[in-house]
Amino acid sequence: MALRTIRTDDEPCLYKICKPVEKFDARLSELIDDMFETMNTADGAGLAAPQVGILRRIVVIDAGEGKVELVNPHILLQEGSVGCFEACLSFPGQRGYVERADHVVVEGYDREGKLHTYDTKGFFARAVQHELDHLDGVVYLTRKIDPPEGFSEKEEQTE
Ligand code: NI
Repeated sequence: MALRTIRTDDEPCLYKICKPVEKFDARLSELIDDMFETMNTADGAGLAAPQVGILRRIVVIDAGEGKVELVNPHILLQEGSVGCFEACLSFPGQRGYVERADHVVVEGYDREGKLHTYDTKGFFARAVQHELDHLDGVVYLTRKIDPPEGFSEKEEQTE
């Protein structure tokens, strides 16, 4: 395993639409291991492949419910709406209030090519949406809005 460099700010790889993974091979497995290691070392809860310069549809998430890898993910259901502060490893030192669905069902393949479905809520659901946005070149700052007055700023999350 090796740490990958996290791309930041205006690096073009953060703003591209990623291509689906076609080969479920040893290289993919190594990339996913590296992404988990890079995410953990940076103290993040999620990381998308374009954040390490790979324009493929792969995300890793650990939102406190175990390690989840999603290859070629696809959202099946999104409902509700909840606002929260978010941050992103690609934009160090910044944060922003974003509204997202609070119940998300997502499916995606693991490194072996096996399809999994995750029924997510709360922080996990937020992380899924934040990371999947990265695969379409969308960064959370473009979704940033003003928080409602008196909103507790304690609920900051790092993705
Ligand atoms: Ni991010």
